[in-house]
Amino acid sequence: MILTVTLNMALDVTYEVPAVDWDGVNRVGAVHRRAGGKGVNVARVLAALGQEVLVTGLAGGPTGRAIEDDLRAAELPAAVFAIGGDSRTTLAVCEGGETPRTALFNEPGPEVTAAELAAFTRHYTALAGRADAVVISGSLPRGVPADLYATLAGLAPAPVIVDADGEPLRHAPKGRPAVVKPNAEELARAVPGTPGEGAEALRAQGAGAVVVSLGADGVLAVTGEGTFRARMPYTVRGNPTGAGDALVAGLALGLVEGAPWPERLRRAAALGAAAVAAPVAGAFDRDVYADIHPRITVTPAS
Ligand SMILES: Nc1ncnc2c1ncn2[C@@H]1O[C@H](COP(=O)(O)OP(=O)(O)OP(=O)(O)O)[C@@H](O)[C@H]1O
Ligand SMILES: [Mg+2]
Repeated sequence: MILTVTLNMALDVTYEVPAVDWDGVNRVGAVHRRAGGKGVNVARVLAALGQEVLVTGLAGGPTGRAIEDDLRAAELPAAVFAIGGDSRTTLAVCEGGETPRTALFNEPGPEVTAAELAAFTRHYTALAGRADAVVISGSLPRGVPADLYATLAGLAPAPVIVDADGEPLRHAPKGRPAVVKPNAEELARAVPGTPGEGAEALRAQGAGAVVVSLGADGVLAVTGEGTFRARMPYTVRGNPTGAGDALVAGLALGLVEGAPWPERLRRAAALGAAAVAAPVAGAFDRDVYADIHPRITVTPAS
């Protein structure tokens, strides 16, 4: 089983509108509501690949109940830890027309108390004890320490992947995660220098491997087997949100199966590309996956 951890679970709401009128009344054409947060997206991709998964994280209030209802409807196994605060909603307003545009409104989410965090940590430790791999991803809710991902990674007996930004990313190597997955901008914010230098620095601080995602340019990975560069044969057009989550799902499968790094990277990068071709985060296009997978080149880099 692969455990995915989303501390700031969300209800992702999408409004489809023909054109936004900021001074008037907007008629919403279609509304979509689904459980979100990066770990939920990772679990959706893994489940679609037939991998046993378990979703955990913090959720509460009426929005938290809506999140849990959607996980049940999607048949995603979940052991969500209930908190007192109301979970956040993330709103995407998508304008159709000639040049489609999307505006995102991300609520900060609930404040988590010290007692809730302590109880969640016990809940997590029990779940992580029976996982083959753990994926920890997304933003931290308010009220928890910036090094929480390092702490959670250190508590898991199984290999851990951390996908984080900012302070949580900077602290992550202390927990000795098997893999840290920033994109190039996140890495540059956390560590100065080129992507290669930043990845080397996080590895020197304790990460087993650092996989830097470069959007349509592919992947740079600094691993115990060496440094590799995965290049995409073409640019996929579509919705890039969630490409990183699909890449992380592929990396988690690679950890569980113990495949050599070049093979892991090829599959993970192919899933990332296939996610761009799918309209919502957490989904991927199987035809794009099958087409692009054999054409991704992975070469040693320095
Ligand atoms: N337009 C694209 N065409 C082909 N492959 C892509 C494209 N965008 C992303 N990928 C693949 O998906 C991987 C992950 O994408 P990206 O670097 O955008 O992740 P990210 O910034 O973490 O995304 P997010 O956090 O929004 O899910 C890339 O390393 C690459 O292999
Ligand atoms: Mg990302």
